[in-house]
Amino acid sequence: HHSRIGIIGAGPAGLTLALLLQRSGIPCVILENRSRDYVESRVRAGLLEQNTVDLLQELGAGARLAAEGLEHHGVIFSFNGNRIRVPFDELTGGRRITIYGQQEVVKDLIATVLSRGIDIHFEAEATAIEGIDSTQSAIHFTQNGAAHTLRCDVVAGCDGFHGISRKTMPPGSYREFRHEYPFSWLGILANIAPSSDELIYAYHERGFALHSLRSPSVSRLYLQVDNEDKIDAWPDERIWEELSIRLGTEGWSLQSGPIFEKTITPMRSFMIDNMQHGRLFLAGDAAHIVPPTGGKGLNLAVADIRWLAQALIHFYDTQQNDLLEQYSTNCLRRIWRAQDFSNFMTRLFHKQAEHGSYENLLQKAKFDYIGSSQAQATTIAENYVGLKDI
Ligand code: FAD
Ligand code: DHB
Repeated sequence: HHSRIGIIGAGPAGLTLALLLQRSGIPCVILENRSRDYVESRVRAGLLEQNTVDLLQELGAGARLAAEGLEHHGVIFSFNGNRIRVPFDELTGGRRITIYGQQEVVKDLIATVLSRGIDIHFEAEATAIEGIDSTQSAIHFTQNGAAHTLRCDVVAGCDGFHGISRKTMPPGSYREFRHEYPFSWLGILANIAPSSDELIYAYHERGFALHSLRSPSVSRLYLQVDNEDKIDAWPDERIWEELSIRLGTEGWSLQSGPIFEKTITPMRSFMIDNMQHGRLFLAGDAAHIVPPTGGKGLNLAVADIRWLAQALIHFYDTQQNDLLEQYSTNCLRRIWRAQDFSNFMTRLFHKQAEHGSYENLLQKAKFDYIGSSQAQATTIAENYVGLKDI
């Protein structure tokens, strides 16, 4: 096998990169170790920034998103039952977010990739990357038990946090930063109409809860649980009862219904300070993880790809390396901003210290400030919808 760009991973990063390159006539091949069915049904994020929606539309992968995605103009924050609404649309000159499940994004991208004739191999696991210090790289992969090699000019490591690309970067070529949080998220999908039109992020003395949605008939909710918690300890009734207490406020009640998906996800922040070595470029979760509070993970992956595609297109047009060399620096500005915002939102809404303690009362002071200061509400709004020129 031979191509100009070898892309490892068919997540949002790898798929959008393939479409951007194909549009500019640059041949690429995608290797994905899971089956098509597996990646299309993997339930994850749901919050798309305007930047992300715009790119999917631009790529011709946004028809179903335009029809079924749910546009939001504001968000509700709750602190032990007291609610504040942040009208982010008004505060940011008309920017909004769209709720549309990540697996729907992936389905739409795969359909578009296939319709453009881009070569994508499912159940093809990349096992080693060679030659990134030269102009001819090779990705070794296995498919149906047989060993193959894909030769390419450039390797795009879009293979997520557990992939092989980051591990291929030479030791000493980057520094890494890790933070593990002492709590996890239990996420559910349920067949019940959302009890709120807008998302609700809630601090409660029993822990964090988030009310989100997927469609007029499907609700998506999350609960803070202990890292040691097992899913068996959370029968449906217990989940609904806890959500109802944590999200509750005077005159509002949470509707419950049959739960059809239940997963516990640990929370971490992970960063590296260099996303490129030679002809290997990392993008998305392969290079960085943010805790999910604030919904930045998927949007950051797509933002990296905008820079990478632009740099590669420039390289093939002009034979100039300058944009490729700036790739990491260009991406890291937005990623550090999102690291800070995700960390801020996580600390603002999760239970970390005893309710009523000094730390907790500082948390409440931060929350109250959002309600009393347009400047603070705007700061949160512009980060939440996604910064434009960064
Ligand atoms: P991925 O989507 O992880 O794609 C990487 C792909 O590479 C995968 O398909 C994988 O199978 C493939 N791959 C890995 N190794 C190899 C290999 N050796 N060879 C070939 N292919 C390989 N973000 C939010 O904003 N909000 C959320 O609520 C949220 N919830 C999440 C829940 C979970 C359980 C997880 C894991 C993530 C969640 N995220 C959330 C983060 C968000 O889903 C990611 O940021 C996003 O998927 C990143 O896209 P990506 O393309 O970089 O990586
Ligand atoms: C969703 C997930 C998030 O992490 C978030 O901040 C908002 C919404 C969701 O899955 O709908």
